[in-house]
Amino acid sequence: MSKLSKLLDLYKRGKKISCITAYDASMSKYLESSGVDIILVGDSLGQVIKGEKSTHGVTVDEISYHARCVRSGLKTSILMVDLPKNSYNTKLEAYKNSHNFISTRLADLIKIEIDTNNLDIAKYLIKKNVPLCAHIGLLPQSIKSKFGYRKYGKSKDEAKQLFDLAVSLDELGAQVILIECLDNSLAKKISQNCSSPVIGIGSGVGIDGQVAVIYDLLGISFNKIDSFFISDKTSLDRQINKFIKKLK
Ligand code: KIV
Repeated sequence: MSKLSKLLDLYKRGKKISCITAYDASMSKYLESSGVDIILVGDSLGQVIKGEKSTHGVTVDEISYHARCVRSGLKTSILMVDLPKNSYNTKLEAYKNSHNFISTRLADLIKIEIDTNNLDIAKYLIKKNVPLCAHIGLLPQSIKSKFGYRKYGKSKDEAKQLFDLAVSLDELGAQVILIECLDNSLAKKISQNCSSPVIGIGSGVGIDGQVAVIYDLLGISFNKIDSFFISDKTSLDRQINKFIKKLK
């Protein structure tokens, strides 16, 4: 069974899917041994690795470099990579970049941020057999100000637009739908109406799986991304204090 068929099988058996970011081999090996299903080389690396204010400056070469590092630590988990901003503006560019990642084994699954304006790109990639994770809702690559960091789908119109978008992507054949910061009841409704797994971040627990940025889980994210999600750094604090104390 292929890795993606195994993922679908997990989903069909009602098991929750876990997806956590990693940017290096030690962490990807650790996450795989802990049983994480999908390891994401996300463009969040712009913030948490490069220390920038957004994901906007991340390049395909940077994602490739980190995907190579992460791949070295993996045997069984699915490796998903983000196509960064401006690397999938046209169908051909999107296909070329996706194909390069897949054919060099730097990705098993490609993630792109989608709204109604670039649905045709997702359609084209799926038609060309690119295994696609469609990221909808809060789209960090399009955010221009801090006001973009909010819950999506609270108003009736926005909820309908996001619901229709998710259902279209599901019908087109996206392997996974990733929802970021969606109203929790809308998130649940999308999950109940899609035949592909719907995993989410900041979208409640009534869906098929959860996504986390590893440094948010560790409570040490740069630029306070963690304030949006979970923060508990006690065990990491304890280890570092132990190390420092031993020196004294
Ligand atoms: O880049 C990333 O880490 C992501 C997750 C926040 C979903 O896209």
